Amino acid sequence: MTTEHAAPALLHTAEAVRDLVSGWRAARETVAFVPTMGNLHRGHLALAQLAARAGDRVVMSIFVNPTQFGPNEDYGAYPRTIAEDLEAIRAVGCVAAVFVPDVAQIYPFGLDESIRFALPPLSRDLCGAHRPGHFDGVAAVVCRLLNIVAPTVLVLGQKDLQQCVLVQRMIADLHMPVRVTIGATVREADGLAMSSRNRYLTPTERASAPVLHATLASVRAALLAGESDYAALETAARSRLKSAGLEPDYVAIRRSADLAPPRQVAKPEELVVLAAARLGKARLIDNLPVGWR
Ligand code: PAF
Repeated sequence: MTTEHAAPALLHTAEAVRDLVSGWRAARETVAFVPTMGNLHRGHLALAQLAARAGDRVVMSIFVNPTQFGPNEDYGAYPRTIAEDLEAIRAVGCVAAVFVPDVAQIYPFGLDESIRFALPPLSRDLCGAHRPGHFDGVAAVVCRLLNIVAPTVLVLGQKDLQQCVLVQRMIADLHMPVRVTIGATVREADGLAMSSRNRYLTPTERASAPVLHATLASVRAALLAGESDYAALETAARSRLKSAGLEPDYVAIRRSADLAPPRQVAKPEELVVLAAARLGKARLIDNLPVGWR
């Protein structure tokens, strides 16, 4: 039996979002917000369900943000599947409003005249070292979306752990009155983290892709078994990815609290293993906190 859910309000302007949310706030309802770039998969829908447990009303946004893509990246090709996304949101049943702005709504002075962000050095490390300006662009859009939606809780996915850490830092540094909740990564049965970019994989590449998660899992197992030569573990992990046909951007063992390199041997449960690798047209990222089972 399928349950019919009411369609969420579909809003295209900042003003319409503010009007709706201010009514909820006046009624003392809390708002949990899930920003997305659309092409929704089960991972996004799990974040919406988490948001429904974190606030009285859930708002999702769908906006492919141009400022977080580099000049040779996939902004133009990024999958835009708005009709399917709205249907998936309706079916999940817990979302009160979906904000689908255009670029002019988010950047009213135009991209060239827009106020930009310069995040701290972590933004130029790990993924940021391979995608210059990416996290500054993420901050530019998340700050604007938070100012428009004014949620009580912001819900982000743990797959983008560096994004989570940097957005939390922005919120703390700019004294933004919002709490952050992080939802666990949702995986396919073979371990591959769900991602909108998985659809770029050919069937052959898709068959190789789970090696990313398997490699992180074996680094995690080695750390839990007491291995402490982090550089050797990272090198062996990169070789394994290369042997499987992936081109690793990095494999890194970091402190989970701030993603800094551990200065000395740390307790395994304080660490996280992160990796990014290119496979055909896709750039896959994943991470495993060592303390989590
Ligand atoms: O994680 C994403 O999908 C994006 O980086 C976000 C947070 C929606 C900002 O565009």
